Amino acid sequence: MIFDKASENVFDQQRVVGKPQRRIDGPLKVSGSATYAYEQQLNQKLAYGYIVGAQIAFGKISGIDDRKARSAEGVIDIITYQNVPEVGTGAFLSAKALGGPQIQHYHQAVAIVVATTFEQARAAAAALVVHYKRENGQYSLESLAASAPLSKSGAFRPEPVTSLGDFESAFHRAAFKVDETYTTPDQSHAMMEPHATLAYWENDLLHCWTGVQQLNWGVRDLALALGVPKEKIRMRAPFIGGSFGVKGTVMSDTVLAALAAQKTGLAVKVTLQRPLVANNTAHRPATIQRVQLGANPDGKLIAIGHKSVSGNIPGGRPEAAVLSTRYLYHADNRLTELKLAELNLPEGSAMRAPGEAPGQMALEIAMDELAEKLGIDPVELRIINDTQFSPEHPDKPFSKRNLARCLKRGAETFGWEHRSAQPRSQKTGRWLKGMGVSSAIRGAPVMPSAARVTLQSDGRLNVKTDMTDIGTGTYTILAQTAADMFGLTTADIDVQLGDSAFPESPGSGGQWGAASSTAGVYAACVALQEKLADEMGVSLNDLSFSNGQIVVNGKSIALQSLALEGEISAEAKMEYAESRKQFEHQTFGAHFVEVAVNELSFEVRVKRMLAVCDAGRIINPKAAENQVLGGMVMGLGAALMEELVVDERLGFFVNHDLAGYEIPVHADIPEQKVIFIDDVDEYAGPLKAKGVGELGLTGVAPAIANAIYNATGIRVRDYPITLDKLL
Ligand code: MOS
Repeated sequence: MIFDKASENVFDQQRVVGKPQRRIDGPLKVSGSATYAYEQQLNQKLAYGYIVGAQIAFGKISGIDDRKARSAEGVIDIITYQNVPEVGTGAFLSAKALGGPQIQHYHQAVAIVVATTFEQARAAAAALVVHYKRENGQYSLESLAASAPLSKSGAFRPEPVTSLGDFESAFHRAAFKVDETYTTPDQSHAMMEPHATLAYWENDLLHCWTGVQQLNWGVRDLALALGVPKEKIRMRAPFIGGSFGVKGTVMSDTVLAALAAQKTGLAVKVTLQRPLVANNTAHRPATIQRVQLGANPDGKLIAIGHKSVSGNIPGGRPEAAVLSTRYLYHADNRLTELKLAELNLPEGSAMRAPGEAPGQMALEIAMDELAEKLGIDPVELRIINDTQFSPEHPDKPFSKRNLARCLKRGAETFGWEHRSAQPRSQKTGRWLKGMGVSSAIRGAPVMPSAARVTLQSDGRLNVKTDMTDIGTGTYTILAQTAADMFGLTTADIDVQLGDSAFPESPGSGGQWGAASSTAGVYAACVALQEKLADEMGVSLNDLSFSNGQIVVNGKSIALQSLALEGEISAEAKMEYAESRKQFEHQTFGAHFVEVAVNELSFEVRVKRMLAVCDAGRIINPKAAENQVLGGMVMGLGAALMEELVVDERLGFFVNHDLAGYEIPVHADIPEQKVIFIDDVDEYAGPLKAKGVGELGLTGVAPAIANAIYNATGIRVRDYPITLDKLL
């Protein structure tokens, strides 16, 4: 099925889609019976793997002495580059899952020790001796920033340079200007469930249970790493304990579990120990960004410049921090630029709203600085520079853009009129009070997605797709979609996800999951309805579905009775027409924050947060609110706490566990509120809905930074805003 534009359809009735729904997988989650990869039980002999990470960042393995480790109790095998074929790189990442002799980054896996128990594997791993020849690597983004070349374009690598008009001369003549440099640090995903895999081979067929957001990427990259055909891999991820991009594809746990299972003939379980996650896997790279804004006295931007440099290992991608600047505000003269320095730190990759979140952390402080210089309210300044057309392609409209509505609604709801434009002018006791605002923008891509829908002989409707639920609520929105299509409730639907044997979806990533996978289920439901109509000798238009009944020319038949003879099943895939490219597809939002800053210690307390989001129809307002609330907490982390500290002599992230890498929790924020703009986007898909998960993070950190400035009069342009930077 090819999607172009949605007309009026069943979802407009707001029966199930659009209504808050409890998670259908909730009881499994809270009772501990949702099985994660590491909890999977098998009826066969199991061994445990323990991964050993490289102790150097760059150089070579000069020798391995595994005699003591091999003779340790319970040890079955030890796998290194010396005793298995060379591991290949996948299509998304450039670091190999098994290093040696060349080492690409610190904690790159150099061995997996396989033993009868986890403890035995761990003990033997401690006895493994690996000798290294350290070479000099590059670990300082700051020292390479000035000489870094432009990045290259390609898959998930946006154009390095975009321009419109004459930025330099417009900026030069602008009456009001901001020209500042902002920095964002390396960040770790720090999701609850560390990477884990259970793998075994059934002859030449590899089975693995793992936590991978996009099974199609996981299978592709595992096949590339092992040099086996994709068809020989069955990957399952029915439940995933959180992920923000680093589980987009397979990591060392999966590749090494598969190798270990192959070599030992056993089923092998591997989890990355928490201290390995930060350096062994991938992270959000640090950026150094220069933002130049030029405006007329009326607040109209005439020049927007945004240049960013980030680092990565050879072959790695840039952190596309200028991406959302290409879509956010109007200005006739524009220049954006991405540079990429080659570093030998662990690989940088996608983390929630990649590029967009750190980019807005810079741009949206700059907007606050400009508002102050102009003497224009920062909400107003953003509205003045709003546009319905793509800023770099003035003929191209947005499919839907309610940014100004988000800002206005947020200002009213939050009590923005109580904010004082004068910094450091509001105080309660020893607490300086301030409010800040930021716009939010995040792309709304969709991808082809397939599903199979079956009317079972017991009358229940079964939905299958290899889509994942990473804690976002996918099970529930797919049940909602199918329920509406057949006039049922979510209680009548069984959803099965996370198995590469099911029809292919694009998985969870890029905020495309909700729109794409519901569209795939919609297509499969239409295909099943066509089949039913065909069997009844009527046309699809003669059929309608409500209250568990199928209505044909005024006659009602229980849906259940149709399948009594045997199940009826249909599979279909939703794809997208070229015409969709006539529009820019983005989601929008506005964040409002109130902070209190202690005037003696400069401790920051976030008091209140409000997010107003514009993402088309909200399929499940309960789950969507939950996503945005989580994004706001994560944004607080980005603003105030999160930073992987680089050891620039040895090339690794020092604070590589949850004791050193600090993240906030919901309880750190006394009041959080989320509002969804009541609107739909006909160009987003049949449900007229877009994703919200990554939108919820963008704009949060700069709103906090701006509130801190409003409270203290101190402008920090270097994240995270720890109290030492305010003293
Ligand atoms: Mo997201 S960083 O695309 O999982």
